[in-house]
Amino acid sequence: MKVLIIAGARPNFMKIAPVFRAALQYPEIECKLVHTGQHYDREMSQAFFEDLEIPAPDFHLDVGSGSHAIQTAKIMVAFEQVCLQEAPNLVMVVGDVNSTLACSLVAKKLQIAVAHVEAGLRSFDLSMPEEINRMVTDAITDFYFVTEESGVKNLLREGKPEDRIHFVGNVMVDNLLHQVRKLEKGGGAGLSVSRIKPEAGDYIFLTLHRPSNVDEPAKLLDIAGALNDISTEKPILFPVHPRTNKMLSEHTIELSDGIRLLPPLGFLDALYLWKDACLVLTDSGGLQEETTALGVPCITLRENTERPITIEMGSNTLGGTTRASILKAYGKVKANRGLRYGVPPRWDGLASERIWKVLLRDLPK
Ligand code: UD1
Repeated sequence: MKVLIIAGARPNFMKIAPVFRAALQYPEIECKLVHTGQHYDREMSQAFFEDLEIPAPDFHLDVGSGSHAIQTAKIMVAFEQVCLQEAPNLVMVVGDVNSTLACSLVAKKLQIAVAHVEAGLRSFDLSMPEEINRMVTDAITDFYFVTEESGVKNLLREGKPEDRIHFVGNVMVDNLLHQVRKLEKGGGAGLSVSRIKPEAGDYIFLTLHRPSNVDEPAKLLDIAGALNDISTEKPILFPVHPRTNKMLSEHTIELSDGIRLLPPLGFLDALYLWKDACLVLTDSGGLQEETTALGVPCITLRENTERPITIEMGSNTLGGTTRASILKAYGKVKANRGLRYGVPPRWDGLASERIWKVLLRDLPK
């Protein structure tokens, strides 16, 4: 079984790492890794390959940044050549970034089976490019690997065949548990952020990069107002995504001294900081799930989430994107301090194993 696994942007790397590792125990599976180059800065890409122990890609498409159309088109053109050369039995895509959409389209048109890891998630918000990527990818997927029960329901409602939907759990949690064990063994010594880490439970960790939050200066200013207010109570550690960095400096939006700006962090540095925070503020999809897996309270700086299980478990609260709504959510989370949260079903570190078992059984030889 020859499989091309696709990764392009930062949130893909933590999903492919455990899937790739789990494949190594099956000699009958040959996995080749394709990096589209959607993210390319060292700290957005190579740093993750090192932390997550992912081997160097077999193919690097080097597409870089661009408008959605340009980026998607460049990936498609380059990936088509790889598919023609390699003739894989399966193309595996993860998540919801432009690389996910581009590579699944190319594969399917060449009659190559497509597996989508993290299928079925829906925010029902078509202003998010990721929602379009999820819907289009799922329209042509052969193997739906689903992280939470809402995903199964969404796919069934859309008429997808039940026997192709596999509720396997969350590969990102496979990676997270592996990395937590690694940190425990090494104690975090040697990490570049050790010296700036405050006492456990005494700080907030923030990430913010979604176009709908950062691309419009008025919106970013309003969110910054809430963050400045919150930082008068607890210091906030903030690794800044390149997109956000650009907007903050172009529009000279002031953040208070209580917010410590950091460069984008590698996986282990970030985990080392957020796992002991009293609260995570984020608009990332992945961090909503990772905080849920470790029971860390999280406020999601969005109006909706495609990951409703994180809300059901109690760890995640939707904070909206205005100063008033974020402060309201902050007040609520503070009042709930000390609560313990549940962990979603099958978020047990074994999702990647389940994926390969399904593929070995069901993929036509
Ligand atoms: C992409 C994903 C988003 C994911 C995010 C994580 C899509 C549609 N969006 O958004 O789902 O949550 O990655 O980071 O696929 N840039 C750099 N260095 C890099 C990469 C990007 O400086 O290595 C800058 C470029 O100026 C670029 C901008 O960041 O224009 C945005 O990058 P892009 O990949 O277009 O989108 P993200 O916002 O990163």
